Amino acid sequence: MSVLFSPVPVGPVEARNRAWVSPMCQYSCEQQDGMPNAWHHEHLASFARGGAGLVMTEAAAVAPEGRISPQDVGIWNDDQAEAWAPIAARIRAHGAVPAMQLAHAGRKASTYRQWSGSGSVPASEGGWQSVAAGPDAFGRYAPPRALTSDEVAQLPEHFAAAARRAVAAGFEVVEVHAAHGYLLHQFLSPLSNPRTDEWGAGADGLRVELLRQVVAAVRAAVPETALMVRLSATDWVDGGIDVGMTIEHVRVAMAAGADWFDISSGGLDPRQEIALRPGYQVPFARAVREATGAPVNAVGLIDEPSLAELALVDGAADAVMLGRPWLRNPHWALVAEAELDGRVDGSVWPPQYTRARRA
Ligand SMILES: Cc1cc2nc3c(=O)[nH]c(=O)nc-3n(C[C@H](O)[C@H](O)[C@H](O)COP(=O)(O)O)c2cc1C
Repeated sequence: MSVLFSPVPVGPVEARNRAWVSPMCQYSCEQQDGMPNAWHHEHLASFARGGAGLVMTEAAAVAPEGRISPQDVGIWNDDQAEAWAPIAARIRAHGAVPAMQLAHAGRKASTYRQWSGSGSVPASEGGWQSVAAGPDAFGRYAPPRALTSDEVAQLPEHFAAAARRAVAAGFEVVEVHAAHGYLLHQFLSPLSNPRTDEWGAGADGLRVELLRQVVAAVRAAVPETALMVRLSATDWVDGGIDVGMTIEHVRVAMAAGADWFDISSGGLDPRQEIALRPGYQVPFARAVREATGAPVNAVGLIDEPSLAELALVDGAADAVMLGRPWLRNPHWALVAEAELDGRVDGSVWPPQYTRARRA
């Protein structure tokens, strides 16, 4: 059996294998109401049928102003939770762990989806005033409004309420999105958090108080549910977050109740210079895993089954997430299993499809 196709515990649940689906926004709520629809259902269920161990939803906004685009999905009300329930059930019916990413886009909110325009959406087209840790814009986006201290204090409860709804809808894992330049990452980075109140730099120089309180609030809201945190291990800009700082963020989030870390990078600052190559973020996952002992997954340009297997055998990560490879082939894990001869019984294949396992 390959390591990729061996089961792995995630908090209190077990994933049947370590080939997971990374969160991917679909920008497909045409009514702009945050309600998932048939597109989201087909899209996510297909990866579970295709052998994934865990299927993560795209970033689901914990508040309407936390959407990246007007067409983003949400989990800020009970109607949305009800619409998510059959999707979570279908992922589970196919044998994968249903997981939901909880997010707030902060100053990167209210933007056009890629195929409708670029930059910020004006109010006349359904856009809204974005909010952030500080007043600085991301690149050419419209400037955000800096949140007041009291407004920041309400954010943990937004994430907690969203987590309660996600679990009520049948999701077995929730992930707090604190990466890619969105609101929680904006609070973590020295490049985007100039605050002098309790949500700015602490005595230790870290800007981790909001993340700590969000994780603690989610932990308290869903004590029996696996809790993951996605972090950007580096901002790829001098003066920004680096791996050493990320290890400290992980320690704080672990102490607040997080079970697992999903290690990505970048997205905070348009000046970033990323050294892209296959598996380029795997060393970050390894550094976090080795320093903290926390279970982690690697993500980013891990397209080949052999590369995924290597990251695991090598002890860099406990699982891998893939994004675009699943869009190219929703049966990525079935093909990978056949290629690696992952399971003696080939059991990740639905019985209806096993005649295709070998040519
Ligand atoms: C269409 C698309 C949408 C994405 N949306 C999200 C998202 O909602 N949340 C998130 O954390 N990352 C998002 N990402 C990043 C992916 O989760 C993943 O980290 C990235 O694509 C690198 O992995 P890959 O090389 O396997 O695609 C998105 C990526 C793509 C291609």
